[in-house]
Amino acid sequence: MKIQPAKSVNGTINLPGDKSISHRAVILAAMVTGETRIENFATGADCASTLRCLENLGVEIRRANTTVFIKGVGKTGFQKSSKDLDCGNSGTTLRLLAGVLAGQNFDSILTGDDSLKKRPMRRVIEPLTQMGAQIESSNGCAPLKIYGKNSLRAIFYEMPIPSAQVKSCVLLAGLNASGKTVVVEKSKNGFGFANTRDHTERMLGWLGAKIETESDAKNFTRTISIESGVEFSARDIKIPGDISSAAFFLAAAACLSGSYLTIKNVGLNFTRTDFLDVLREFTSAIEIKNEREVCGETVGDIKTRGAAVSNDFGFTLNPDLVPSMIDELPILAILGTQIWTSLEVRGAQELRVKEADRIKAIVENLKKMNACVEEFADGFRVEKSDLKGAKINSFGDHRIAMAFSVAALFATGETEIIDADCVNVSFPEFFQTLNLITKTEKRP
Ligand code: S3P
Repeated sequence: MKIQPAKSVNGTINLPGDKSISHRAVILAAMVTGETRIENFATGADCASTLRCLENLGVEIRRANTTVFIKGVGKTGFQKSSKDLDCGNSGTTLRLLAGVLAGQNFDSILTGDDSLKKRPMRRVIEPLTQMGAQIESSNGCAPLKIYGKNSLRAIFYEMPIPSAQVKSCVLLAGLNASGKTVVVEKSKNGFGFANTRDHTERMLGWLGAKIETESDAKNFTRTISIESGVEFSARDIKIPGDISSAAFFLAAAACLSGSYLTIKNVGLNFTRTDFLDVLREFTSAIEIKNEREVCGETVGDIKTRGAAVSNDFGFTLNPDLVPSMIDELPILAILGTQIWTSLEVRGAQELRVKEADRIKAIVENLKKMNACVEEFADGFRVEKSDLKGAKINSFGDHRIAMAFSVAALFATGETEIIDADCVNVSFPEFFQTLNLITKTEKRP
């Protein structure tokens, strides 16, 4: 994909459904009784992987564009799949389904593509084993063979790494365990809550589960508990636009003066909006309109305009914000070349075990674009830099491809993104949307 520098981004857009909420919507719809209609289901390959796995587990699914109908089988009504369950590139599919399958009365094999097979799975194997599941893995990675049983026991689990996928895996297993399962999410640095996205808790609560979250503001700890024994009935679900996809366009608008951009119907769950708060630190041009609650999630329209911002101070990200901004860190790195004298992100070693090693991908590609950047084991430091067009390696990672496509708008000359098709994982319409809103007259 070749991208030219831009003058501004303009327009009003709607984005595909949130990827995280879409995974949870179809998994939980499969676990209720009755049929659920899900609107604005995410269009990317990751959520299609979840649908395919559920079909292999005996769930009846119909799909008409972005509307999906799921016939629930109940919490333990899945059928043994005749083949390995292929989660493709999707860590969320694999880790959430591991929690569901640990509590079924049959064995399953969860696997995925080469990237997914390198990602760490001990983080779900450990709590599930404590719950009584038996799981075989290849050195802590997929394929995972899960010997399911419907006699799991509830556990009290303090997460060593703040992760929404791990938390969700344990809570989903907790639905089929005896007693009350408790997951604790704790700040690693003591500067604030380490919020991981709470879509699973919200959707479970909205469906009528006995789920509670307690926040301890002294110790920056959240304790989530779920009781088993509740059966759920189907409730239709509307999925908001994906704020992590919105982030790319908001960053573009913030840096290109003359931009006027409205993104409608975006999910504004507080565990996902810290990137907006960072933008607000340097621009007052972010407005939220039409804020409302839809199916247990906050939704609204984001209106922004470019303001030729330039700050003469450095910005260091609070490391306790890393979990809630984990998917926005690649685009934050690009902002780091434009906004502040320097940007430093630490405590973000989790970036090394995403779809690619995102720290390496950010640093290598920014260097190619002529940016002044330093790599740390747990993060990076970027200085304000004049970017030059370059040949960018996406490392097959969707968020790297999209972040550097935005960097290309601020650069001089043409940028080429290699292996740009990987955007299909979360946002197949990304380049089309970028094209639609971009004014490409040369900047002076
Ligand atoms: C996700 C959680 C995050 C995030 C991923 C989606 C989810 O991963 O990076 O894109 O839907 O639960 P971790 O749980 O590994 O932080």
